[in-house]
Amino acid sequence: MKILVSGLLNVETTVAVKSFPIEYYPIDYPFFGINSNVSGVGFNISKALKALGDEVRLVSFLADDPEGERVKNELKMNGISADSICYNLKNTPVSTVLYDKRGRRQIYCDLKDIQEQTLVSGDVDMSDCDIAALCNINFNRELIKTAKSQGILTATDVHVLSDPDDEYNRDFMENADILFMSDEKLPCDAGEFITRIYNRYRNRIIVIGMGDRGAMLFDGKRKVTIPACKNVKVVNTVGAGDALFSAFLHFYSKDNNAEQALRKAVVFAGIKIGFNGASVGFCGEDELLLHCERFSS
Ligand SMILES: Nc1ncnc2c1ncn2[C@@H]1O[C@H](COP(=O)(O)OP(=O)(O)OP(=O)(O)O)[C@@H](O)[C@H]1O
Ligand SMILES: [Mg+2]
Repeated sequence: MKILVSGLLNVETTVAVKSFPIEYYPIDYPFFGINSNVSGVGFNISKALKALGDEVRLVSFLADDPEGERVKNELKMNGISADSICYNLKNTPVSTVLYDKRGRRQIYCDLKDIQEQTLVSGDVDMSDCDIAALCNINFNRELIKTAKSQGILTATDVHVLSDPDDEYNRDFMENADILFMSDEKLPCDAGEFITRIYNRYRNRIIVIGMGDRGAMLFDGKRKVTIPACKNVKVVNTVGAGDALFSAFLHFYSKDNNAEQALRKAVVFAGIKIGFNGASVGFCGEDELLLHCERFSS
């Protein structure tokens, strides 16, 4: 499949902490507990899709600085073209992820001036793409409308959401055929919220990630809850949602079977959280299918 991915690229530093909330102490020495990787939703999704065998066109913004250079090299090493990346930010975005022994994470994300960037329909050619995976970042607002009007299947993850009328995410929710979100700040149970979202936006597929309780899917007719993988090694859950979203798109685009796609995506995410870092721990399709057999038996 050929998938357009448009979203954030950054350099992420992960820091192992003793517990949350963090008590004040002047210094800690977590040997090999501080690591840095190229990440950002755009990179995480692109890398996951590449691992699963898809062709990716990545659209994003970077700065002409050492971090931007690092991201560019990492894209090259992963066989992801940097041709559709614009180098006009003041600085490349960076993030810090604190994580505890249970894999819980707290993210600090410095977007620099990326939210001031815009893309208009002529900037990006997506006519040859099967899916447009457009992250909920300001520069994708026009792009998702264009993709929708061109009849390309659109997909967005709005992440943490508590209000179906949320103004920041409205353009994305209105134009996403496939809409993902997290249950972390829902005002009611996931089943009720998914109905509210459907009644408001009529998306073809809605998925709510529910962490260690798995994920819920609604296709306009049926709600299905897929439980999370049991007994998986949990190191750091950062990026679990990006992994779930990517693998769902990969499998759904093959045969339009949403339930089966989500079952596989839950296993893909379950494997991914055994690794540290949002862009680390993506397996290939063959390995994933072996794991799926193991989890179903
Ligand atoms: N602690 C966990 N144990 C087992 N599986 C998990 C755990 N956390 C996440 N997962 C798996 O990863 C999937 C995606 O995680 P989650 O639901 O937390 O994503 P999200 O909240 O949408 O995004 P984010 O990555 O921002 O948390 C879940 O549906 C589940 O299958
Ligand atoms: Mg979550």
